[in-house]
Amino acid sequence: MSLQLKQFTKNTINNILYTSVYSFYSGKRTFVQTNKIQPSFNSKLLSIGKSHIIGKGSVSQKSFYHQKALAEENSYLNQSLSENDPKLFDIIEKEKKRQYESINLIPSENYTSKAVLDALGSVLQNKYSEGYPGARYYGGNQYIDMIENLCKERALEAFNLDPEFWGVNVQALSGTPANMCVYSALLNPHDRIMGLNLSHGGHLSHGHQTVNRKVSAVSKFFETMPYYVNEKTGIIDYDQLEMLVKAFKPKLIVAGSSAYSRNFDYERMKKIAKLTKAYLMADIAHVSGMIAAGYLNNPFEFCDVVTTTTHKSLRGPRGALIFYRKGVRRTIMHDLKEFYDIENKINLAVFPQHHGGPHNNTIAALAVALKQVKSEAFKKYQGQVLKNCKVLENEFKKMGYKIVSDGTDTHLLVINLKPNKIDGARVEKVLEKANISANKNTIPGDKSAILPSGLRMGSPAMTTRELKEEDFKKIAEFVDRGIKIAINIHGKVKGKLRNFKSALNTNTYPEIEELKKDVIEFSRQFPVVGFDLKSSKYCKE
Ligand SMILES: Cc1ncc(COP(=O)(O)O)c(C=O)c1O
Repeated sequence: MSLQLKQFTKNTINNILYTSVYSFYSGKRTFVQTNKIQPSFNSKLLSIGKSHIIGKGSVSQKSFYHQKALAEENSYLNQSLSENDPKLFDIIEKEKKRQYESINLIPSENYTSKAVLDALGSVLQNKYSEGYPGARYYGGNQYIDMIENLCKERALEAFNLDPEFWGVNVQALSGTPANMCVYSALLNPHDRIMGLNLSHGGHLSHGHQTVNRKVSAVSKFFETMPYYVNEKTGIIDYDQLEMLVKAFKPKLIVAGSSAYSRNFDYERMKKIAKLTKAYLMADIAHVSGMIAAGYLNNPFEFCDVVTTTTHKSLRGPRGALIFYRKGVRRTIMHDLKEFYDIENKINLAVFPQHHGGPHNNTIAALAVALKQVKSEAFKKYQGQVLKNCKVLENEFKKMGYKIVSDGTDTHLLVINLKPNKIDGARVEKVLEKANISANKNTIPGDKSAILPSGLRMGSPAMTTRELKEEDFKKIAEFVDRGIKIAINIHGKVKGKLRNFKSALNTNTYPEIEELKKDVIEFSRQFPVVGFDLKSSKYCKE
């Protein structure tokens, strides 16, 4: 028995039994019930099967082996990642261990499901399909069309939208390009946009710029102006927004954020947008999961366009959705109506204006995630995300920390570290050394994004790993330990952030090592999502 045949495990044999294959035996398309071989394993096994499994010359053999094996020099094309690129495979295995043994508090991250990962890594990625279902520039898109239509149906269902009044584009590649597509669809170059100021919780793609630099391309191609939170309360100052809108006369206002922990008042914003007949666009990238589950204010009641990334609280693949309104926009007089004309503009902005072929594997994976969104388990998950974040708020408050906006309605919060005489950057670095991922963040009034005063944390990722309220109390304790360690080291290592970082990299701090040990022990208690611990290379140790 050859060595190869020995590797031909019992499982593989089981796999290939009882599978029917089509045959072109004798040039005719005959269905042959071979009950023997499944045509989807690699060429090595094919060659083993050829000589050892089935008697030479049998009808079954010919019917199956009409599919020629790859030439020896091309056999790598059917190798698994571990066989083909052990170095890269090994790095991924290390990343699994990092995810398993870390507390992830980055509010924009999550662990997507195995089913989503399966679709992402599927043959769908091979297909070019420029265009839209039913109108593609290439042939062979019958299944791609089915997938994109299914994804669109599910996207509307996920947010309970009536297809008569809402449409959706599922092709945008990620959040930033999705937003740019909307601006370029609805506005002319140099038209005016307003979005929440970056250091008050907004996002780059809402038009961020500084005195010296057009940081976001949005601010290069459009005229952008921020609105703000009230620095005392940390809540969006809607009265001031109204005043600014009257003066600036934007054509589009963005309601959305990356680090604002309060519910948006879309109703008020719609009234304000009407003052200059501006479009109101909600960017719900962070909170779309909670909105789909019905826990937060619903932007679809008031907005003209809603965009979202799909990889944050929605727990899907990296991608984006753009929802746009259809039908009557406003009634001018009782029988004179203005209709929305944004469907075509948005679809054309996505393709062909901003990309060529859509990422079909991502669209399929998104369809899978959107099916999950409609489940009871998903609703329960989002409820738990909110409960867990409230625990963080309560615990940090008990410990005496100051929280921006004085708390949270959502999945995230930002601690203001100014009163603790430390900054977010230093704390982030200490936490990272102890296997806790959280990120430095500007708070209202901050001047520097490199050395901001805030630390942003959120609950979606760890809630996916089934952590509950008691577990989040423990997490608050770990973070508190990390902050105190950072304050302590900062007291000894004076000067610039770079000195602090280099001290962390050159010295061993037993208190950080102790914290790391506790964090690892804690994290290993919880299940992982998307991969199997038993078969992973480093998680077993
Ligand atoms: C509110 C908001 N919009 C857009 C984006 C951009 O998404 P992406 O990173 O996919 O471009 C983010 C990312 O964090 C975000 O928070």
